[in-house]
Amino acid sequence: MCNRVAAENRLAELRFEAGTIESTSLDRLDVLVALHACDTATDDAIAKGVQAGASLILVAPCCHQELRPRLRPPPVLGPALRHGILRERQAEFVTDALRAALLEWAGYGAKVFEFISTEHTAKNVMIVGVKRTRETDREELARQVREFAAFYGIRSQRLAGQLGFKLVEA
Ligand SMILES: C[S@@+](CC[C@H](N)C(=O)[O-])C[C@H]1O[C@@H](n2cnc3c(N)ncnc32)[C@H](O)[C@@H]1O
Repeated sequence: MCNRVAAENRLAELRFEAGTIESTSLDRLDVLVALHACDTATDDAIAKGVQAGASLILVAPCCHQELRPRLRPPPVLGPALRHGILRERQAEFVTDALRAALLEWAGYGAKVFEFISTEHTAKNVMIVGVKRTRETDREELARQVREFAAFYGIRSQRLAGQLGFKLVEA
């Protein structure tokens, strides 16, 4: 139906395809947008954008499931994390902070901000990556990512895996 509407409006360069982001082949890309892609689908979308050389990556993540059961924060946080809502928010914070840090490592300037009021949705965080034109100290960025992951006891994460970044050095 979307393709029919595009054709009716003579938008010859606009094409819609149904499928998962993993199974979608993207050779070259200018802009990658993923709005509320479930759980690790956001990681898959970011990875596709990076691998296809997108200049701009915009994602609004949703339902952060992957890391929540894997987080092993320092014991001092134990009493605070007895509360389910705080565990959930911590998982969101850690997941999105890690995504932004991995984008930085992958050559993007990353920003994380609220794009809409919480009256509309609590899932109102946007991560934006803008491809850098200048070199950065990737070793230092890698060290920061690993230090952050180690603080929370994270040994693997979807985007890190997709980008071939080892959170724990062998
Ligand atoms: C919460 S809805 C968001 C829909 C819409 N973008 C919005 O903001 O209203 C999540 C959407 O992501 C799609 N989705 C989940 N996993 C996906 C994947 N691996 N690849 C592509 N789409 C996926 C689901 O089918 C669903 O349509």
